[in-house]
Amino acid sequence: MNNCLINKTFINQILGRVIMNRLLTRFTIIAGLAGALAFSTSATAAITGSEHDLTPTGNSQVSNPTATNEICVYCHTPHAASTAAAAPLWNKTLADPAGFDTYDNGNSSTIDGEVLAVGSVSLACLSCHDGSQAMDVVINAPGSGLAGVGGTDLNTGSTGLMGGIAAIGGGTGDLTNDHPIGIEYAAGACNTATAPTGAGTCAATAVDPDFATANFDVINGAAAYWVNSTAGAGTNREKVDMILYTRSFSGGALTGPSVECGSCHDPHEGGGTVSFMRISNEQSNVCLTCHTK
Ligand code: HEC
Ligand code: HEC
Ligand code: HEC
Ligand code: HEC
Repeated sequence: MNNCLINKTFINQILGRVIMNRLLTRFTIIAGLAGALAFSTSATAAITGSEHDLTPTGNSQVSNPTATNEICVYCHTPHAASTAAAAPLWNKTLADPAGFDTYDNGNSSTIDGEVLAVGSVSLACLSCHDGSQAMDVVINAPGSGLAGVGGTDLNTGSTGLMGGIAAIGGGTGDLTNDHPIGIEYAAGACNTATAPTGAGTCAATAVDPDFATANFDVINGAAAYWVNSTAGAGTNREKVDMILYTRSFSGGALTGPSVECGSCHDPHEGGGTVSFMRISNEQSNVCLTCHTK
């Protein structure tokens, strides 16, 4: 009898647990799916309809009704991409870095970081933003066959139908009046002769007290640097942090982080008053993440 009772209670408990577990599992699956859906929706919405959506239904002034409706192809191609670009699967020809006049040729008497020739991801941004290339000229146009490789346009019929865009650099490559790019972070606080072998922080305050401390880690075998912003979850590198790009300084003797267009901008994050900022620049949050002012 006792045994029977115990067994009954036991069985009830087990059944209860099974039901509970099933409910929990279902809940987890539903919550997981909802999460995944919400994530994928917002991820797609970010570039779709933004200024970097150059399709006929996008939000850029250069959109043309006869252009392809593929969004990524204006910047990326799955095959035959540029081997010179420091941006993944890049579908545009890069400008000659020597054609740009950089910030250090300007009038600043206070800059102390080394300014490199235009490179890294900045050169990729400038393949459109220097105003020299038509938006619909790419290395590999969409569609079958390799006919497009070599620069066929995205508008069937005529190349350059979409024109260029308002230039950063006035169309002459003059970057002296733009925030420095290819600029050493915190006057070289993170630069080292041998690449870091683990995670850490750069002693920025020792070199240049005007800057926030940068973080570094080894990601997929390569050194990665960034400045943590107030947005995002942890201290790991996230898209809402100010991303610093690894480059060579002191004539190749040192490796370290530099500020590039992609430090402040994420080319896929459209929306907001000004698109493509890694974080909102309310209260100058973008600026204050790096500059201690
Ligand atoms: C206006 C140009 C532009 C368009 C359009 C564009 N990208 Fe990008 N994408 C870039 C640049 C520039 C980088 C390099 C960013 C960096 O190095 O910080 C990049 C990097 C990436 C990366 C690697 C880094 C990351 O942010 O995840 C992926 C993946 C990617 N793009 C996918 C896409 C897909 C998919 C589309 C189309 C839906 C797309 N991109 C459309 C410019 C563009
Ligand atoms: C990713 C980090 C980063 C962000 C974000 C950033 N800066 Fe800078 N900024 C730098 C670095 C590094 C320098 C080079 C300073 C040096 O070497 O003296 C610099 C230089 C400058 C200079 C020139 C200083 C001089 O002595 O000539 C000004 C002005 C400036 N930034 C303003 C801003 C403003 C305004 C914002 C926000 C819109 C901003 N910065 C965002 C890193 C950043
Ligand atoms: C395929 C060409 C192309 C490339 C590559 C490209 N852009 Fe753009 N970008 C555009 C066009 C087109 C516009 C919209 C211009 C217009 O409508 O007047 C734009 C607009 C912008 C804007 C202004 C958004 C606004 O809200 O007004 C920013 C910021 C920007 N791009 C940053 C970048 C950065 C940073 C990169 C590199 C990471 C980059 N772009 C690469 C074509 C490009
Ligand atoms: C230090 C941060 C920073 C860097 C580096 C940076 N930008 Fe910007 N950019 C901004 C901010 C902030 C804005 C918001 C509008 C403003 O204040 O002018 C902006 C605006 C823009 C715009 C919209 C036009 C305008 O001036 O309002 C374009 C296009 C643009 N950036 C492209 C680029 C390109 C291309 C590069 C690299 C050559 C670059 N940016 C580097 C911070 C930066």
